Amino acid sequence: MDKFIIQGGARLEGEIRISGSKNSGLPILAATILAEGPSVISNLPHLNDITTMLALLRSLGVKVNSEKSSAEIDASRLTELEAPYALVKTMRASILVLGPMLARYGEANVSFPGGCAIGSRPVDIHLRGLEAMGAKIEVDGGYIRATAPRGLKGTHFTMDKVTVGGTENLMMAAALAQGTTVLENAAREPEIVDLARFMIAMGAKIEGVGSGRLEINGVSRMQGCQYTVMPDRIETGTYLTAAAATAGKVKLLATRADILEAVLDKLAETGAHIETGEDWIALDMKGDRPRAVSLTTAPYPAFPTDMQAQFTAMNAVAMGEARVSETIFENRLIQTHELNRMGAQIRLDGNTAIIKGVPQLKGAPVMASDLRASASLVIAAMAARGQTVIDRIYHIDRGYESIEEKFKVLGGHIRRVPG
Ligand code: UD1
Repeated sequence: MDKFIIQGGARLEGEIRISGSKNSGLPILAATILAEGPSVISNLPHLNDITTMLALLRSLGVKVNSEKSSAEIDASRLTELEAPYALVKTMRASILVLGPMLARYGEANVSFPGGCAIGSRPVDIHLRGLEAMGAKIEVDGGYIRATAPRGLKGTHFTMDKVTVGGTENLMMAAALAQGTTVLENAAREPEIVDLARFMIAMGAKIEGVGSGRLEINGVSRMQGCQYTVMPDRIETGTYLTAAAATAGKVKLLATRADILEAVLDKLAETGAHIETGEDWIALDMKGDRPRAVSLTTAPYPAFPTDMQAQFTAMNAVAMGEARVSETIFENRLIQTHELNRMGAQIRLDGNTAIIKGVPQLKGAPVMASDLRASASLVIAAMAARGQTVIDRIYHIDRGYESIEEKFKVLGGHIRRVPG
């Protein structure tokens, strides 16, 4: 297993380009199953999760031609209607093929995704929503077997919890259902807006995009289109936070400020000077240590759970004390134990981390436990004195394109060693 060796202490300074969004690219790729002709998707990030989704599509018989950051995908005809365990176990987002496959073919078999390091992550709301559209769902031999031989039917469904993947799966299923589906308490994340725009370009009829109430008028067929995936707001936030933690100064290109407001507000509270343009964000700490900032994660437009770990790492070297509460996933503060091994002073009280900032962390061997926790360890290591060795970085390759190259451009001392 590869490791990162990071020599800390450098202020991160410079300009980098942000990649396309992983969490938007994945559902968009799944949604190509809805269309009867080829689509060309550009600005796809080079990430293991995207490669896994393309492999999953190929295993279903979809024709995939990918090069650099774009892919031509033709799902005119599927030859298999089963997402196998081998792929689903490496990426939970594989569940996103369930809705589109069922809507288009009246049948879908998807290996039941298990838990993961950050929590149990059930899919009960996805399944209840599909049942409300008339699907018959059975769980058999570790597989979700969904059937709707006479097609899905429009329904009025209220999600009892805000779920990003659930909203995406049900929105895709409803696009080809008979009649109108209303989804209440829908997630409003920018990635859902991006998926809806892609689907509308393919011929779907969706209203209320970006709100908590989606109204989808089913159509009988959809066609392929050309689409550019939005920038990755979590990658953007990660580099901004890394710059804040190291008293640095960065400019991030090919990104957007309007999808990151809660994060930018919190960064401004640290004392960072932030400027934004149509497709860039600049942050300058003017050489100062950040001030500690408290936060609570919640569904969009509130502070994203996917930025919690990075802010926890920044708070570890900030001036003052912060309280960081995680309300989305039950197990997502585990990286704090690794930060404490680097000299952080973090105490856990239920789902809240109480972080007393220290002037400097000290490099240590640490272990990455999930994608965003790994990013937090890289930030901590950049801000620390001495050398940090981060083990199990395969997690980070799922979500950050060319992470070591980008940190190197910003003056970070990071290298990958094969394990
Ligand atoms: C997506 C993102 C992930 C992000 C998360 C929350 C992708 C590929 N991943 O994950 O990076 O951290 O949103 O912003 O886009 N839940 C249920 N029942 C369900 C579905 C979800 O109880 O049927 C719960 C989950 O356990 C969790 C909460 O709802 O506590 C939110 O999960 P959800 O929004 O569904 O996350 P994902 O779509 O898996």
